[in-house]
Amino acid sequence: MADPLVIFTPSGKRGRFPAGTPVLTAARQLGVDLDSVCGGRGICSKCQVSPGVGEFSKHGVTVAPDALSGWNAVEQRYKDKRGMIDGRRLGCQAQILGDVVIDVPAESQVHRQVVRKSATARDIVMDPATRVFYVEVAEPDMHEPSGDLERLAAALKTQWDISDIRADIDVMRKLQPTLRAGKWAVTVALFRDHRGGAWRLIDLWPGLREAPLCGLAIDLGSTTIAAHLVDLRTGAVLASNGIMNPQIRFGEDLMSRVSYAMMNPGGDQEMTRAVRDGMNALITETAAEAGVDTRDLVEAVVVCNPVMHHLFLGIDPVELGQAPFALATSDAVELPARDLGLSAMNPAARLYMLPCIAGHVGADAAAVALSEAPDKSEDLVLVVDVGTNAEILLGNRDRVLACSSPTGPAFEGAQISSGQRAAPGAIERLEIDPVSKEPRFRVIGCELWSDEPGFAEATAATGITGICGSGIIEAVAEMRMAGIVDAAGLIGSAEQTGTWRCQPEGRTHAYLIHDASAQGGPRITVTQGDIRAIQLAKSALYAGARLLMDELGVDQVDRVVLAGAFGAHISPKHAMVLGMIPDAALEKVTSAGNAAGTGARIALCNTGARAAIETTVQQIHKVETAIEPRFQEHFVNASAMPHAVDPFPQLAQ
Ligand code: FES
Repeated sequence: MADPLVIFTPSGKRGRFPAGTPVLTAARQLGVDLDSVCGGRGICSKCQVSPGVGEFSKHGVTVAPDALSGWNAVEQRYKDKRGMIDGRRLGCQAQILGDVVIDVPAESQVHRQVVRKSATARDIVMDPATRVFYVEVAEPDMHEPSGDLERLAAALKTQWDISDIRADIDVMRKLQPTLRAGKWAVTVALFRDHRGGAWRLIDLWPGLREAPLCGLAIDLGSTTIAAHLVDLRTGAVLASNGIMNPQIRFGEDLMSRVSYAMMNPGGDQEMTRAVRDGMNALITETAAEAGVDTRDLVEAVVVCNPVMHHLFLGIDPVELGQAPFALATSDAVELPARDLGLSAMNPAARLYMLPCIAGHVGADAAAVALSEAPDKSEDLVLVVDVGTNAEILLGNRDRVLACSSPTGPAFEGAQISSGQRAAPGAIERLEIDPVSKEPRFRVIGCELWSDEPGFAEATAATGITGICGSGIIEAVAEMRMAGIVDAAGLIGSAEQTGTWRCQPEGRTHAYLIHDASAQGGPRITVTQGDIRAIQLAKSALYAGARLLMDELGVDQVDRVVLAGAFGAHISPKHAMVLGMIPDAALEKVTSAGNAAGTGARIALCNTGARAAIETTVQQIHKVETAIEPRFQEHFVNASAMPHAVDPFPQLAQ
């Protein structure tokens, strides 16, 4: 008689196995994604499966009620102690006795999918570089002299088929007490680079460790640093946090920081220290918020622009301040986090930085490419990551181009008279009535509009403190639509605009949004200087996008993706009224949120994604805005709102 047939769902993998074969063994032989930390000892419960009963016409199999061996004592012990969903079995305990269909639930899959919310985004498949293994190690023996590390390595070889183990001195110091505390059974965290090679022993714990190990996806921007703390088993984001980049005191934009390094001996090291200190503080705070011990942070992925890349690595960025903008290295970097002064993590934690695309287009643009995958797109997509520097990608599966454009910090609320970072109390949405020219607005932390009942009470605690990046974009676009600002960007007088809110300010005018000065509060206006700052920023952004379109020989793009920490808050209409982005059907302009941060999270959760982006980056063609004469031409024409010469037919609709 033929051996029993076993079919695994959802993979559909199938095979025949002698009666008595454990389900976990069959799964491993067929390459089915079924988790196990304890190696089949019945203590980790990661191998839970749901055996089917009855007929499975899809697979043409009739399952016998006794297709698996009966419930055993190990399973009972586990269930009594921890509980288990009815109908579930431990895959390492249940044996195959007859034809059977076995479902592997998502939580038992190592490579489970993490669903991303955006309609166009691909899910993240979990495959982290650091994994945990439970292992039983032989005790030392007078007659078989060998070190504890060597016996641990031998046990990993026989129990997990893992060889070539390397351990740093920090973890070596922990090895002997931990092995003895665990009575020679330990859980080890092993890291393996996506290029293969040796396994690195990151940490170990006595017995079976069940708490998750975590990693950090860090978007190191010139203005802000954002960190997401991620459970490396499930991919869940346990906490997110952000701080201002402490390097701001050395210069608001990248070039002023490069200048600082050029003019001040040791200035680069000062900035390196500042960013690393800030990063440690951010990590400590984020871990506390998530209730995670910093020692359980075993990996970090950092994405940033080339100047931040060099300063964080402790490399003088001076070459990035002058043509030909040579990077010390454009390759991905993988090294111990402690080598970069990150002490708020496990001492053996590893850090990965995505590759840079070129001297002005950094690892943050590579992360956006990983997240939004223009190289996999059928249609021509323009991806714009809006920040102090805009990273711009244009292309489809045939060809992808990239450039970086110096937008300055205006889009983040900096260099704006009433500007502030996105925080409770900041105006984030604004509308202006085209007839009365009266504004109404919403502030972060309050669901109500300013003209709705209860607004004053709801904002009493935070007050109305200023205007953030998305707020200033809406304000300027609304002022343009209400005729308060002309196409050249000039704010009219009260007589010209028909509103008392346009008040003289020096030799120009400013539009008053909110005045609490009588109560000692702020007076929030949009000044002529603010309009100029937004014009400069949006011209740089548009000119960069237009340059890539020239290079590709197109006048139109099929869709636009707005990325960046505040990309989610910019309405496509307002972006287009300003002429921030080329004309496109409004429904084809979508937001991807913080795509660079998401790219970092993908690289953190999936080691294969690191290999993939390293290959993709080689194929992205980089366009250098700084030396391209057409950039200036595009920049000047883009100063008008929406544009001096380019048509915006979608706005007319
Ligand atoms: Fe650990 Fe089955 S593999 S309980």
